[in-house]
Order: sequence, then structure tokens, then C-alpha cells
Amino acid sequence: MNIIGVLFLIAVAYAKHEEYQGWKSYYVTPYSMDDLKFLRSLDVQYDLDFLGHPTVGGEGLVLVKPEHQEGFLKTLDNTNIVYRVHSEDVASALRQDDEDIKRRARTLSRNAVRLPYNNYQRLAEFDNYLEDVAKRYPDKATLVTAANSFEGRPIKYIKISSTNFADPRKKVIMIDGGIHAREWISPPIVTWAIHKLLEDVTEPDLLENFDFILLPIVNPDGYEYSHTNNRWWRKTRSTGSSNLSSYCPGVDGNRNYDFAWNKVGTSPNVCADNYAGNRAFSEVETRVVRDLIQEYLNRMVMYLTMHSYGSMILYPWGHDGSLSHNALDLHAVGIAMAEAINKEALPIFPKYVVGNSVQVIGYAASGAAEDYAHSVGVPLAYTFELPGLRGGLEGFNLPAQYIEQVCRETWSGIVAGLRRISLQ
Ligand code: ARG
Ligand code: ZN
Repeated sequence: MNIIGVLFLIAVAYAKHEEYQGWKSYYVTPYSMDDLKFLRSLDVQYDLDFLGHPTVGGEGLVLVKPEHQEGFLKTLDNTNIVYRVHSEDVASALRQDDEDIKRRARTLSRNAVRLPYNNYQRLAEFDNYLEDVAKRYPDKATLVTAANSFEGRPIKYIKISSTNFADPRKKVIMIDGGIHAREWISPPIVTWAIHKLLEDVTEPDLLENFDFILLPIVNPDGYEYSHTNNRWWRKTRSTGSSNLSSYCPGVDGNRNYDFAWNKVGTSPNVCADNYAGNRAFSEVETRVVRDLIQEYLNRMVMYLTMHSYGSMILYPWGHDGSLSHNALDLHAVGIAMAEAINKEALPIFPKYVVGNSVQVIGYAASGAAEDYAHSVGVPLAYTFELPGLRGGLEGFNLPAQYIEQVCRETWSGIVAGLRRISLQ
């Protein structure tokens, strides 16, 4: 390569993540409910992005734009909210992370047939894997393209059944991932379930009792965008919801479901990360999930949606913190899943906490998937907040070396939950 080429590559490396040039991230800990509320109220004023949500006495992580750093810190200094710097230079931390991922990619064996779990994969790898595994197990697996995303990418899911979904006594389990683009640990959890049901079967009885719908990436446009343009992209990439939406594309998929839509924990600002869209189910991506829930509703006993991070298993109602009629059941199965995970998890991960969404995560949000599923009749509906790690570019960037560990332990949790259901 000539010198121009080298200079060009250096320029590109620097340009990457330039939208985060000058941003810093801070750990923030409020010690009273008032401080917590105050901290949340700063969201709008300083255009904050909470990567980890604070609780009373619990550390949150917040991204702050260059122009708001002084004001934000001055405001915090007048409160009892404790803060410390997490990253002085978010853009270069992101670049460092890219380097780590590239280094791992080079060590990958060239002809690995299966989806690798020692690194994060692009959408094409997931799509290839789904095609391939469905072809290798035609008796049990069916690959379906439910629809195309806003930008035209196929949204694929796999149906797995030993009786071709024809046995009405079997209960249907649905698991989805990747509705929030930046939560990269989510999709591999769903493909690991496919792997364990087809390729590496250690629980052969599961398919005797259950049929599975597995949808690894609900939001392929956002997922790709989080790899190519903005590591912390969360939403879809749709435009057209308002005059402003071509400047600020995207809707928060997990605010777009038709349950108490746009009531709480949402923003009217199209540019906000929790913009709910201009109507419930405005997004083709959430309509795909809705249609699957509806199609199998009479047999669907469990719906799981994979998010990160926080090591939590959350159940309805997430819009107001009240408990459902079957909250005891939700709690018991949730505990069974969490205990199985906690038993297997590495000590570096926080222990899982199980409970009502609002009470455990500390904020209310309406229009979310698990609430919707439960409201239309799925008895056991949960949001998983998969583990993240403190240190480095933490949280959404669970270091790639832990992907497989988290897949294994989460699968153990799911199996424990299913075993409990079988007893009922
Ligand atoms: N982190 C998830 C989100 O903000 C949590 C959703 C919990 N569920 C709920 N119904 N609020 O989308
Ligand atoms: Zn999420």
C-alpha cells in the first residue's frame, strides 16, 4: 500500500466514532429517591444518555456531550449525588474496543461452520447461520422471513418442533433478541438456544413438551448501524414518523408496543432514544413480534425478550409497577431461572435479581414487549437484562471472551424455567 493509502486508513480510523469526540462518561450514584428523580430529570436539560440506569444507592453510567459537561457537573456538585469519571475520552475508548474485536476476528478459524461465539458477529453471519442450520435439520427446523425491516433487511426467525407445530398439546415458547441495537449480547443468546435444541442436544425432552419460535434479531437495521456508524445506537432506523424524523431516524422498539402506549418513560422528541413512534406498532419490526405472539397465542406459555445490561429478570407490569394476577407464578418461574443462572455464572458477574420491572430496574416505561405479550394473554412474559461488566467500555460491550459463558448460563436459566413449567 502506498503512503496515501496508509494516510487514508489512519484518517478513517480516526473518523470512526467521531460523533463521540469530546464526550465523557460518568458513574453517578444518587442516595435518595429525590436525588434519583432529580438525576433523571436532568436527562432532557443536558440531553443525557443513560447507558446504565442508577437506582437509590446504585451506580448508573451516563454519557455526556462536550457542550453539557460543565453544566452537568456544576449541577451535580450542588446535590448529594456522587459521581466519578468513567471515560475521559469516549471516542478513543470506542476505537480501542474496535481494535480488540478486530484482533479476535483475525484469530478465528477460517472455516468455522457454526456461528462463532468468541466474538460479536455482523447480521450476515447470523443470517448465514440461520439458513445453514435450518437446512441441516429440516425435520425439526423451519426458517421463515417474517417481513423486511424498514431499510429492507429480512427479519428471520426459526421455528423448531419435533411435530411440525401440529400437536395442540405442546406449549409454545418464544424468545427474541436484538430489538435494541447496541445490546450485542442479546442475539447470540437466541442463536445459542437454536444450537442447543438442534446441534448440541443435552435436553432431548424439551422438544417433547414444547415448540419454539426463535427470533435472534428483531431490529436488523439498528443492529447493523451499531456496527457501522454508532456503537450506541438503540432504536430502529425508520423515517417518516414526523417532519423531523429524517434528521433523527428511529423509534425505540421497546416503547412501540400497544400496551399503555406512549404513557410513561417515553419522549415526544423524535431524536430521543426512548421515542415511542407516532403510533403503537408504527414499526414493521415490532409488528413482526406482535404477529408471532398473536399467531401462537392459544399455546404460547412463555415469551422472553433479551436485553442488556443489568443481570435482571423483569416481569409485568412495567408501565406502573403494579403486579399481575399471576405475579406469584411469574416470580416463582423467574426465581427458578435466576437461581440456575446464578449457580453457573462467573463470580465477576453480579447476581441476577428477579422482580417487577419497575421495582427492579427503577423506572417505569410503557409500550414494552413483555407487558404487551402479557396483556394479550401470554402468562409468563419476561424481559431479561443480560450481564454487563464494569470497567473498560463496559455494559453494552460485554467483552467478547464472555459471550459463550453468558449464552451457556442463560440457557441453563431458560431450561430451569421450562422444567418448572412442565411440572405445572
Ligand atoms: N431496559 C428495558 C427498556 O428500557 C426495560 C424494559 C422493562 N419493561 C418494562 N415494561 N418497562 O426497554
Ligand atoms: Zn434494551
